[in-house]
Amino acid sequence: MTLVNHRFTLAARPVGLPSPTDFQHGEAPVREPAAGELLIKNRYISLDPAMRGWMNDARSYVPPIKLGEVFRALAIGEVVTSNGAPLAPGDHVVGLFGVQEYATVAAKEATKIPPIAPLPVFLSTLGMPGFTAYFGLLDIGRPQAGETVVVSGAAGAVGAVVGQIAKIKGCRAVGIAGGAEKCAYLRALGFDAAIDYKAGDLGAALREHCPSGIDVYFDNVGGETLDAALARLAMRARIVICGAISQYNATGKMAGPANYLSLLVHRASMTGMVVMDYAARYPEAIAEMAGWMAAGKLTSKEHIVRGLAEFPRALNMLFAGENHGKLILEV
Ligand SMILES: NC(=O)c1ccc[n+]([C@@H]2O[C@H](COP(=O)([O-])OP(=O)(O)OC[C@H]3O[C@@H](n4cnc5c(N)ncnc54)[C@H](OP(=O)(O)O)[C@@H]3O)[C@@H](O)[C@H]2O)c1
Repeated sequence: MTLVNHRFTLAARPVGLPSPTDFQHGEAPVREPAAGELLIKNRYISLDPAMRGWMNDARSYVPPIKLGEVFRALAIGEVVTSNGAPLAPGDHVVGLFGVQEYATVAAKEATKIPPIAPLPVFLSTLGMPGFTAYFGLLDIGRPQAGETVVVSGAAGAVGAVVGQIAKIKGCRAVGIAGGAEKCAYLRALGFDAAIDYKAGDLGAALREHCPSGIDVYFDNVGGETLDAALARLAMRARIVICGAISQYNATGKMAGPANYLSLLVHRASMTGMVVMDYAARYPEAIAEMAGWMAAGKLTSKEHIVRGLAEFPRALNMLFAGENHGKLILEV
């Protein structure tokens, strides 16, 4: 009997915030795996701000999703059938399996998950967002004990890990997030200070909480927040450009930093990072972060929305700040 696959494809390229009509929820027969392929049943699908960029017909670090193509997504699934591949039915795997119930993929596209943490954590702190925080902060930010690390989008999947690693490395960690509840969460995680960017003057708050300036600024947000951080740099500061979520739904030109000459004044650097460049080193990040988690120094938080059909609504939660932790769709 042929299995039916429920899936989302890209129906239209959005202008501004994606709308339900930009997605097509449909069915297709499940393709049997050929030699060396796996049939995977998806359990958890990662919802990421980057998905918004993949909907645009623009040059980027990966090609855009084509119209009519299954929506690209990282996911965790269970192997149903293995056709001569070195993985067995029942194995849990992670890979780019898409926003759908089933995926038929080459075995080399699936990575087996070790049974050391609950599955969703491998889309969160022990997965892509955690790797982004780990390599972005440690390789590009290069924080030294005693320095001040500021991170925006601090209560999110990447940001919360950045701040916690900054503390592990003996730094002062300052988080910027939207709302009192998220700021209370940051303080509970051990951040030295949390700034609610919706509540008042961000520049004044950065002056108050970073008395000797910002040594490392990990930017997830861009726009006005990046400008406020540029205005508070310490000498030889490092800025990690990880993302600019405040600009992803812009219908006009993206807002660039006006205060960029602060880089000159402070002999500072601003470097972009793409997590995939570190793929060969992911096992290193998993080993060290799993150790920190076991020692109670690193907490992982996931926000799970249930039901594949919720995909369009759930994706937009990222842009409204409605997620509390790594946003994941449970199939
Ligand atoms: N370079 C890479 O390789 C890479 C890899 C992964 C992620 N990223 C980037 O890292 C950033 C964070 O991703 P994530 O997965 O950890 O998402 P997340 O932080 O878990 O969720 C997104 C958060 O962004 C904040 N936000 C939304 N609109 C905003 C706006 N206009 N201004 C300020 N904040 C806004 C919201 O938090 P508040 O409630 O606090 O506003 C929201 O909860 C994104 O920019 C993403 O593109 C980059």
